[in-house]
Amino acid sequence: MTTKSWRPVRKLVRKLGPVWVVRRTHHNHKQTGYFKFPTRRNRKYVGNLIANELISYRLAKLIDLNVANVELAKIRGRRGVVSIARPARHLYSWNRLHRMKGSAIHHLDHPEQLLRTFVFDVWICNVDRHGGNLITFPRGKRYGFYLIDHGLALDGALKWRKRPWNSSYWTNVWRYNRHYVRGLLSYVRNYRQLVPYIKQIQRIPSRDIEAAIDAVPASILDYENRQKIKKMLLYRQRNLDWIIKKWAKEGNKSVRDVQKHVSESSETETVQKQQQRVKQNKRHGKKHQVFSKPPRHNKQDHSTFGADYLYYYYS
Ligand SMILES: Nc1ncnc2c1ncn2[C@@H]1O[C@H](COP(=O)(O)OP(=O)(O)O)[C@@H](O)[C@H]1O
Ligand SMILES: [Mg+2]
Repeated sequence: MTTKSWRPVRKLVRKLGPVWVVRRTHHNHKQTGYFKFPTRRNRKYVGNLIANELISYRLAKLIDLNVANVELAKIRGRRGVVSIARPARHLYSWNRLHRMKGSAIHHLDHPEQLLRTFVFDVWICNVDRHGGNLITFPRGKRYGFYLIDHGLALDGALKWRKRPWNSSYWTNVWRYNRHYVRGLLSYVRNYRQLVPYIKQIQRIPSRDIEAAIDAVPASILDYENRQKIKKMLLYRQRNLDWIIKKWAKEGNKSVRDVQKHVSESSETETVQKQQQRVKQNKRHGKKHQVFSKPPRHNKQDHSTFGADYLYYYYS
């Protein structure tokens, strides 16, 4: 046998339940993984954890997103999923890279992948794409990244927020999404930038989406929930363009809003630059609007909205 079974080496205590660090040897290479499994607590808050992780992983693969390989595993009698770490010498969470290097986005070799990620997260209703769920690694002189942790997407998001999939709540991205990785909102300048990624998702044949869901064994996902996730994904796929257009439109705030938040901003320099640009445009009589989202602090999630501002110029 060329693959040894996973061996737990450490336990991480996490808000929604334990994550075990596990190791194995696979074709003579050592692998590290992170094992999560259903518990009474996470079943209550995130629903079908295994299905959320497996389906999101397969969907991400359909659009060539760099996502951690996820596999079903049974370790010490518990059935769950292992998210496999990339065999890189150094792995840093997005937040860590941001702290180490300043604006992480400027160090990526393919920053546009962040846009693909954002659109994907809207599709699957991921409410948890904060800077801890995006792992970066050095590639040449720059950094690549991959996605982890889709426990709070799909059914996980519905359970966490206690809203059915067909509630209008899920078409209001500003409302349900309280996490944006730092720097993303300054990078997105207009809706048009996102269109290729929306189209890419809308072009996925429905049979491929259904196959991604059907790959989850019947013992893990029952018929009713399987049908629910299919309906949810197909509906959101069809409507992704206006959902994101609405997000872009509602990002419009007055210049005054931006000024009001300058004092609360930790990225004052960026904001000052942006204000200068607004003033210059005014002087030159250009019509402009500014996207911004006021910082929000939600006690339940401990989520914060960073001081990112999004510009949109009418053409
Ligand atoms: N594939 C992976 N590569 C690197 N680190 C990972 C991977 N999967 C999980 N981790 C690490 O384990 C932590 C917990 O895993 P995660 O899936 O985010 O669980 P939780 O739902 O508790 O946030 C992550 O914050 C990250 O540090
Ligand atoms: Mg996480």
